[in-house]
Amino acid sequence: MRAALSFDSAPPFAAPLRFFLTAPLFGVLAGLLLAFDGGDALASRWSPAALALTHLLTAGFMLQAMIGASIQVLPVVAGASLSRPLLVARVVHPLLSGGALLLAGGLRWGSGFALESGALLLGVGIAVFLGAAVVVFRVRSTSPTIRGLKLAYVALGVAALLGILLAFALARGWPFELVALTDLHAGWGLGGWAGVLLAAVAYVVVPMFQLTPGYPARPAWAFPLAVLGALVVWGTSATFGPPWLVRLAQVFLAASGIAFAGLTLKLQAQRRRARADATYRYWQFGLAASVLALAMVASATLFPALARHAAWAPLVGVLLIIGGFVSFIAGMLCKIVPFLAWLHLQQLARTRVPSMNQFLRDDETRRPWLAHVLAVVLLAGAALLPVLALPAGLAFALACGWLGWNLLQVVRRYRRCVATVEQGRADDGTPREPDDGAA
Ligand code: HEM
Repeated sequence: MRAALSFDSAPPFAAPLRFFLTAPLFGVLAGLLLAFDGGDALASRWSPAALALTHLLTAGFMLQAMIGASIQVLPVVAGASLSRPLLVARVVHPLLSGGALLLAGGLRWGSGFALESGALLLGVGIAVFLGAAVVVFRVRSTSPTIRGLKLAYVALGVAALLGILLAFALARGWPFELVALTDLHAGWGLGGWAGVLLAAVAYVVVPMFQLTPGYPARPAWAFPLAVLGALVVWGTSATFGPPWLVRLAQVFLAASGIAFAGLTLKLQAQRRRARADATYRYWQFGLAASVLALAMVASATLFPALARHAAWAPLVGVLLIIGGFVSFIAGMLCKIVPFLAWLHLQQLARTRVPSMNQFLRDDETRRPWLAHVLAVVLLAGAALLPVLALPAGLAFALACGWLGWNLLQVVRRYRRCVATVEQGRADDGTPREPDDGAA
């Protein structure tokens, strides 16, 4: 199964780029916060630092990268062009950035005002994005990617509504069953939004960038429906009972994630390119970490005594959010940003342009990847040994900073090529071939 792509309708580079460049900054902040807080930050899922870190990564790093990717892929893979994508990006980007900062600050320092205003800013940013992305619902679901995108946007709306409810409940002391509501919010955010969106994008980019066979049609169509179905069963049985159905839905959800990861690993094993590149390395690591995290989720659901260990949930969070999602996103950014630079330059110059690899060489991505792996190992260790929090935070800040620096280099090289082409036009009216040595 391969997707039909229409690159002529791609939005301006500046629309997704601001999100892609901001995402790593949230990672740097998360690392510095952990290093600064140190000690028991990761010793419990409910510590103020752990909740703040979670949202610097989910509502910061992940949401930025995934909304940027959505603005890019909607017209290309679904034929659903946002009207005025640059305007949407200009409005949504500051709302999400300010909202995630305030929400994380409110959670870390216990400020009800910051919590509520952060939640509202994020809510408005997400609503504006979803209002623009509603065009995808007018397109028929002719591919599992289109269906996946639609379901992921529904899940984002639900996760955001539950998140806003939680923020107000915390700030105002509303009498809610907070643990059950938080679990459900995390399930819709990580499983429904991030997991389904990742799969929908993976159906296109894994075969394209990692030269694997396409995803087989049946599991590709089924995965988004299975995840959303399990979340609906979870939410309904959490409200009306019976409790065993909640646990069954959670195990089913974790098993679906493991099946998707297993299928992707199998496809990667059949890829046509022998040499590992950045995306492949990040994805292999991310898939292994996610399988481990999801196996821990399933085991704790079946044997609740396991989850009573305070370090259990933080360990799952580190493995799933940083080991899994941050790795997948970092791997994709290392390919998507150079690809977009190449694509836009090609469309501008209409002549031979430097290859994608010249915008970001593979050797430039190897050490940031190693720093990322080291950071995840240290972060997992910090859940058990608080003394590791300082080196873990610094290592993670370094890995994210390095990723961001690499992306900035791509933009710098792209701008240099654009300047050469424009100079050629100004001199003699014909576009000049950009220098092959973009790097
Ligand atoms: C409008 C956006 C959001 C708001 C207002 C929000 C708010 C919150 C709040 C207040 C909590 C803490 C609940 C408590 O202490 O009882 C929480 C927990 C959580 N949120 Fe969000 N959230 C948002 C978006 C997201 C997104 C997009 C994701 C995932 C992609 C996410 C993942 C999580 C997770 C995993 C937890 C549990 C943390 C833990 O157990 O340590 N949130 N959220």
